[in-house]
Amino acid sequence: MGIRAAVMRRALAVALAVTGLTTMLTACDGRSGAGAGAAASAVDTGANADAKSALGAGAGAGGDGQPRAVGAVAASASPVTQAAPALPVTASTVKVAAHDAGQSRAQVYESVRQMTALGKQLFFDPTLSGSGKLACASCHSPEHGFTPANARPVQLGGSDMRRAGLRAAPTLKYLQSVPAFAEHYHESDDEGDESVDAGPTGGLTWDGRVDRGSAQASIPLLSSFEMGSSPARVTAAVKAAPYADAFRAAFGEHIFDNDDATFNAVLQALGTFEQTPELFYPYTSKYDAYLAGKASLSAAELHGLELFNDERKGNCASCHISQRTRDGAPPQFSDFGLIAIGVPRNRALPANRDPHFYDLGACGPERTDLKGRDEFCGIFRTPTLRNVALKQSFFHNGIYHSLEQVVRFYVERDTNPGKFYPVVGGKVRKFDDLPQRYWANLNTEPPFDRKPGDKPALDEAEIADVVAFLKTLTDGYRPEGKAAAAR
Ligand code: HEC
Ligand code: HEC
Repeated sequence: MGIRAAVMRRALAVALAVTGLTTMLTACDGRSGAGAGAAASAVDTGANADAKSALGAGAGAGGDGQPRAVGAVAASASPVTQAAPALPVTASTVKVAAHDAGQSRAQVYESVRQMTALGKQLFFDPTLSGSGKLACASCHSPEHGFTPANARPVQLGGSDMRRAGLRAAPTLKYLQSVPAFAEHYHESDDEGDESVDAGPTGGLTWDGRVDRGSAQASIPLLSSFEMGSSPARVTAAVKAAPYADAFRAAFGEHIFDNDDATFNAVLQALGTFEQTPELFYPYTSKYDAYLAGKASLSAAELHGLELFNDERKGNCASCHISQRTRDGAPPQFSDFGLIAIGVPRNRALPANRDPHFYDLGACGPERTDLKGRDEFCGIFRTPTLRNVALKQSFFHNGIYHSLEQVVRFYVERDTNPGKFYPVVGGKVRKFDDLPQRYWANLNTEPPFDRKPGDKPALDEAEIADVVAFLKTLTDGYRPEGKAAAAR
């Protein structure tokens, strides 16, 4: 089977299914309370009925494949997949919640609205952190596509704000259609060939180790090198915050009686906020306007797009999907596959001062459930390229700081490896961040299909055009005429 074909099919299967609450309401008929079990444990203590069911229901949404929510696709296809989409409020959330709790849709919407408003305040609140200085927004700045506002490869955190992280902070945008992690990802039968194994796919973070935004949020809150907090500390902060009353109103009078319950409520509110369509998946880039026939690309951008798609040139779209799905949903610029591309070791990272330390992605050490499974070593989740031009550090270890450098790495990794990897005694130490026993995991599809001295898949002018195209993926595009009119 052609890998590319598999990848394209995978792209179809991870089609965006939920674009917002409006869609949720219209799309969710006929679902039953698949998430009821998970609902009960989502916020165990103190949550009022509204919040509890609105939150928890999303955890188990999916299963009957109708509509094609990503979580549902993954769940129906693979036994190892959990039936949860990456972020909890899905098409069926509102319906299921209303159904379970016997409430009106309006009441459920009201809970989601409250939670979103709270999640936003929490997201910007540094008092949740051990240092009192670090908010989610410190590393995920809204003005920078929810990535850091600085060019450090990794961010600083911890109680003294001096501990360096291991990885570059990714964007929080367009995570809504990341499927739950699956070791073997299969398409749903109506989207592609179900028998094709597209390999490890999905999950949040670079190594796909958590499935839901709410669960993810506990990582930075508790990490000693990030927010360095604790449930007790978070509870104290929320109790003292200006939004404490709103928090009680959303989660129940007694929500502060139990630190773990408060902490879970915080995670749920953050996870709900992260699904605000206008902020996190607005689809307002120039490329979206182009796909809708409302903007034209410049000659360089258009050429860049062609090179991006061309299997024998950039071949970028084989992993970073650029076309609408079969049912017309906009592309996510990722198939969410976990892939090893052999990014060089970033010697600027403090963790890498230890020559024995390797960040091997899915096989550890951050992720622990696939430890010792060699076939998962060196693989990282393919990131979306939407808003990538707003980033200042690229790849999981933040080694590069310009898109030109990134694209050059793709096309010259194999033709001129000495440009990217250390040269010791006249010999290039290729793939210096991946022990040799895992090299079989490395991708060798175009543009990685060459050897030293071969012609790179793209020349410098073509690289510039690909970069010009990547810049059309930034949200907030206004056609020039309109911008002038608005002024
Ligand atoms: C000190 C910087 C820092 C702070 C503060 C921080 N994050 Fe992150 N965030 C990161 C890094 C680094 C990663 C990637 C982690 C990994 O791959 O192991 C990440 C990953 C994520 C992801 C997964 C993105 C993806 O592509 O799968 C989400 C969601 C997220 N963060 C949300 C939050 C929330 C919510 C908060 C506040 C509670 C927060 N982050 C605070 C640095 C930070
Ligand atoms: C075989 C799948 C695959 C192909 C083909 C591919 N990419 Fe990627 N891309 C990835 C993966 C996986 C990562 C993350 C790798 C890492 O950090 O270890 C990535 C990361 C990136 C990043 C960094 C994004 C960020 O947020 O840090 C950019 C930019 C990018 N790719 C652009 C391209 C372009 C341009 C092409 C074509 C020349 C391309 N990719 C081809 C899989 C692929």
